[in-house]
Amino acid sequence: MSFDTTAPAAKTRVQRRRHYLMCKPTHFEVVYAINPWMDPAKPVDTELAVLQWERLRELYLELGHTVDLIDPVPGLPDMVYAANGATVVDGRVLGASFRNEERRPEGPAYLEWFRANGFTESHDPEYVNEGEGDFLVTGRFVLAGYGFRSDARSHREAQSVFGRPVISLELIDPRYYHLDTALAVLDGEEIMYNPEAFSRSSLEVLRTLFPDALEVSAEDAAVFGLNAVSDGLNVVLPEAASGLAEQLRARGFHPIGMDLSELLKGGGSVKCCTLEIRH
Ligand code: ARG
Repeated sequence: MSFDTTAPAAKTRVQRRRHYLMCKPTHFEVVYAINPWMDPAKPVDTELAVLQWERLRELYLELGHTVDLIDPVPGLPDMVYAANGATVVDGRVLGASFRNEERRPEGPAYLEWFRANGFTESHDPEYVNEGEGDFLVTGRFVLAGYGFRSDARSHREAQSVFGRPVISLELIDPRYYHLDTALAVLDGEEIMYNPEAFSRSSLEVLRTLFPDALEVSAEDAAVFGLNAVSDGLNVVLPEAASGLAEQLRARGFHPIGMDLSELLKGGGSVKCCTLEIRH
């Protein structure tokens, strides 16, 4: 296989403007537990969640990105995690289908948004897939997680919808139940990940395909450092992942730390709140 193998540190980073979809956490709360981060007994400050989310949105706007909003639906507290709502590649939309009943109505709500906004190539999902929670798009591949949420059969479905090679990766640690909690795309074929989150064979696949990847410490992974959004230059990530921020700086990126403490109580952070619309 031949990709660009230029030493990552030597690269000049170039920002590309992005188009994101977000959902305000107006109705955010933790009333059920479908991942190990969620504890309905722990109080959530919804107002603070909204403030922290607003800061993230404003940051994207300051960085020059476009941010569209989908209306939050009462009774769907996890709708704030827009990344799970769909996957969009080359203007083609694959709708999400949720594993847990509590989140099931989010799939049609997001797909409806895309159809109403002119995305004529919008596909109803056949198998369970939790959108960009488990599908991450590199320059040429779709990296796809399974093990906790998305059904591995949805990987083939994604390959046929997007016409891109889909690489299946098995997640083994329940704390990192979605691929976007264990791996992030930085730029093109450059990625970062937590090696402890993957099965041995999936780790071999990652090391073969991405020999220059940034491997992230267990400490930085545990504060959700991998739940990050990169525009090719700026990498927005949880501020507690300070070691990771240093590693990113050394590679020429511009890390920007954010405090999303309230949304972490639902098991999500920066990337979970951000669905990328790729035209
Ligand atoms: N409470 C949500 C769930 O467990 C959090 C989803 C986080 N989103 C993400 N893209 N990882 O489904």
